[in-house]
Amino acid sequence: MDCLEEKLVQAEKQGQLPKVVIPVHFAGQSCDMVKIHELSIQYGFNIIEDASHAVGGKYYGEAIGNCRYSDITVFSFHPVKIITAGEGGMALTNAPSLANKMKLLRSHNITTLSKNTNSISDILSKFFCSTSLSFVPQQTYLLAS
Ligand SMILES: Cc1ncc(COP(=O)(O)O)c(C=O)c1O
Repeated sequence: MDCLEEKLVQAEKQGQLPKVVIPVHFAGQSCDMVKIHELSIQYGFNIIEDASHAVGGKYYGEAIGNCRYSDITVFSFHPVKIITAGEGGMALTNAPSLANKMKLLRSHNITTLSKNTNSISDILSKFFCSTSLSFVPQQTYLLAS
């Protein structure tokens, strides 16, 4: 955390503050999200968590990557990850506006596809929700690719 804080102090002096910081949780252990969230308010950046290596892990009693301290959380389903779909991944957010944007990006801005609730990715996300990703809170938006 000291390193990140030092870098942000330097970046501010140089007028080069980041728009986004991407904490990567590793070996089931969460980054210090409370502190990173505080820094995001102080320095005005957004947070995208990468929880690919922490599926099922807990942080202060809650699921790592539940977006309590971030805008978006991403998971990779690459073959060497904790769970895999062969390839692909998933993004979570609690923000309806971001969920809508991500849905459009997923369907290359083809709006008829983004409204299609029977697309392969929706079926996949429902499958993961009801099985191995049952720790994801229900109100969280799921976007599988
Ligand atoms: C933490 C982490 N995030 C993301 C990726 C990349 O995932 P993908 O290959 O699904 O883009 C990796 C790949 O090794 C990774 O270790």
